[in-house]
Amino acid sequence: MKILFLDQSGKLGGAELSLLDVVKPYRDRCLVGIFADGSFHQALQQQRIPVQVLTTQALQVQRGSNLLQVVGSFRHLLPLIAKVVHLSRFYDLLYANTQKALVIGAIASAITQRPLVYHLRDILSSEHFSQTNLRLAIGFANQCASLVIANSQATQQAFIEAGGRAEIIKVVYNGFKPESYQSSIAAVSKLRQQLNLAGQFVVGHFSRLSPWKGQHVLIEALTHCPENVTALLVGDALFGEQDYVEQLHQQVEQLGLGDRVWFLGFRSDISPLMTLCDLVAHTSTAPEPFGRVIVEAMLCGTPIVAAAAGGVVELIEHGKTGWLMPPSDALKLADIIQQCQSQPERAIAISHQAQQSASQRFNLETTNQQIAHLLKQVVSL
Ligand code: UDP
Ligand code: GLC
Repeated sequence: MKILFLDQSGKLGGAELSLLDVVKPYRDRCLVGIFADGSFHQALQQQRIPVQVLTTQALQVQRGSNLLQVVGSFRHLLPLIAKVVHLSRFYDLLYANTQKALVIGAIASAITQRPLVYHLRDILSSEHFSQTNLRLAIGFANQCASLVIANSQATQQAFIEAGGRAEIIKVVYNGFKPESYQSSIAAVSKLRQQLNLAGQFVVGHFSRLSPWKGQHVLIEALTHCPENVTALLVGDALFGEQDYVEQLHQQVEQLGLGDRVWFLGFRSDISPLMTLCDLVAHTSTAPEPFGRVIVEAMLCGTPIVAAAAGGVVELIEHGKTGWLMPPSDALKLADIIQQCQSQPERAIAISHQAQQSASQRFNLETTNQQIAHLLKQVVSL
């Protein structure tokens, strides 16, 4: 089966990291078409996955766009649509991994009669998108997609609640290779030394810097924790959220936390960094569709506390494989940080349980088998 994968981003967000793993089995009979250049392009090339940057013109439609802005942007999309239509003729299936890819893929699918699969990695609700964006996504998916793959039950439910057809959507959780999350003790202690973290209780946050990822909640929580609790903020503003970055730096300065909060920027050494942490905190203020970082922390054997909304509650069993807290509740987060600090044996037992459970429930082999099975059904329709 020859597949044309489409993704709007040139950057390495969770959707793109997940797609990298989905694409690998089709390496010798696929093309990944991306709508911007960047680190995702390089990552695909490094893995010897055929990739083409299909446009270098930034697509104007944003998460909050209204109808006029959307209509206005269509003129700019015509060359991209023409390219995708042309390429589609060489493939059996179109696989859209993001919303803008869905729009382009849907039009190409209608013209070329190639089946379209939409991998839905967003919670389609007004907390995340404008009404126009929601209507467009649901409309194109309902009309043009033979299959929608949701990355969690929460994502599936939001799709149906927003008017999506229940009969076309199936849940497939993201998969991981457990062995990729094993780091040597030497590498971890070297990194801890380099970062000057001796004697600190280290809480790591591994997300792009964006208001809804809620790094500010962790910073606030630190003010309610003992002085030796330090936060590592790993990740960068991938989609232009510079105001938020500025705001975070100001918050740190105003609270006098300059020596307890470290901004490490985007890193590729996630596994040793997560392993060196005493706790990983996930603090999204809006429902997280899935949350790769949560499963990654579990696979690294590091205790995890996460905001209980969206797909997160499908990943963690509170008190058994991690801790759940109400979103945006800095006081509760501080309380859980201190529980982990004061009861290390319990935290270790929970993280062991989490590691085992995550290796079984979120295994890449199973994920890829489930996707292969679904795609076969689509092509044989
Ligand atoms: N990540 C990374 N480097 C960083 C910060 C994050 O490689 O500096 C990775 C992280 O390990 C995870 C992904 O980015 O695999 C983020 O995915 P997630 O599903 O948690 O959130 P998203 O950003 O997709 O909403
Ligand atoms: C999206 C979601 C994230 C999910 C990732 C991979 O980026 O925001 O929650 O883990 O896709 O499916």
